[in-house]
Amino acid sequence: MALLISPDTHEPLREVEENGAKYLTAGSGQQYRYLNGFADLTFPKVLTDKEKTTLDFYENRADVYDQFLYQTFKTHGEDEVQVRNTFIDKLNLKTDSKVLEIACGTGRDSELIANRLGKNAQLVLQDISPSMLKKCSQKLEQYNIDKQFCISNAAYLPFPDNYFDATYSFGGLGEFPDIKRSLAEMVRVTKVGGKIVVGDESMPPWLRDTYFCKVLATTNPQFLAEIPFKEIPVEARKVTVQWVIGGIFYLLDFEVGNGEPVGDFDYEIEGVRGGTLRTRLEGQLEGVTKEAKEMAIKAASKKGLSMHAWLDEVVRQAAKKDLL
Ligand SMILES: C[S@@+](CC[C@H](N)C(=O)[O-])C[C@H]1O[C@@H](n2cnc3c(N)ncnc32)[C@H](O)[C@@H]1O
Repeated sequence: MALLISPDTHEPLREVEENGAKYLTAGSGQQYRYLNGFADLTFPKVLTDKEKTTLDFYENRADVYDQFLYQTFKTHGEDEVQVRNTFIDKLNLKTDSKVLEIACGTGRDSELIANRLGKNAQLVLQDISPSMLKKCSQKLEQYNIDKQFCISNAAYLPFPDNYFDATYSFGGLGEFPDIKRSLAEMVRVTKVGGKIVVGDESMPPWLRDTYFCKVLATTNPQFLAEIPFKEIPVEARKVTVQWVIGGIFYLLDFEVGNGEPVGDFDYEIEGVRGGTLRTRLEGQLEGVTKEAKEMAIKAASKKGLSMHAWLDEVVRQAAKKDLL
């Protein structure tokens, strides 16, 4: 239970029993019920029309999802298990890893992940559709590992910061209500140094005008979705992108870093301009006349100084005098 927190306020949750019915509650008073035996931590509680449509689709699809999915791989002559295993390889799992799978669906990847985990690991499975999650839990019954299931929205995860060693999500991203927020949530719950692997449909740009694309996008317009490059959080490091399954799905993987990247911006740059990368940004003043600029270049050269060193000294002296 300690794993689950309020998806809204991030407060710890406590289980309460009232008139024989159990529910979870946070200090600030929100209540979350159980559905199909899983905690339903969906937030916001009232879904948008688009989210409702997605949810209804998967609620009605859960019974036949596994029956038809093989066709996605058959179209491109690919072996589903082999291909999915190459995605999971990128998570760098150890036998004791804490792993989160988002939008796990009926558990086609979850089983392959469970296969790699030992008794000290933890596998947490998340989806917005109770019926898809139920199928996943049935599939994982035979795996004797610590596994936990919860209904929630990928954009508001009910898990603590820096908890998982690896976070994975395949096939759901294009349906998430807020991809930027969902990726930021994945980063929040994954440890610094941990891995995130996500993928979904996206026809590469160079194939968009082909017959191949027309055929596939007619049945599934989701192939026209763009890879969410701009939505990748600033914490992402060593980002790689690859096109997979017939080259029409993207697979993004990255390591989680701390904040935005940092560089050495303070060494003296060789050459006539001089200064540092930082002074070039932070020390900018105002443009001068063309004539003054030409004189400054000549003066700096005569003194054997870089333009930065000469200017810095001149401005300092003039400012000191005027500040008296
Ligand atoms: C195409 S299925 C992919 C399932 C599975 N990952 C696979 O590869 O077979 C998409 C899944 O995303 C889930 N989903 C859609 N929107 C979601 C959201 N906002 N939060 C969590 N799951 C969501 C659906 O319920 C569905 O199970």
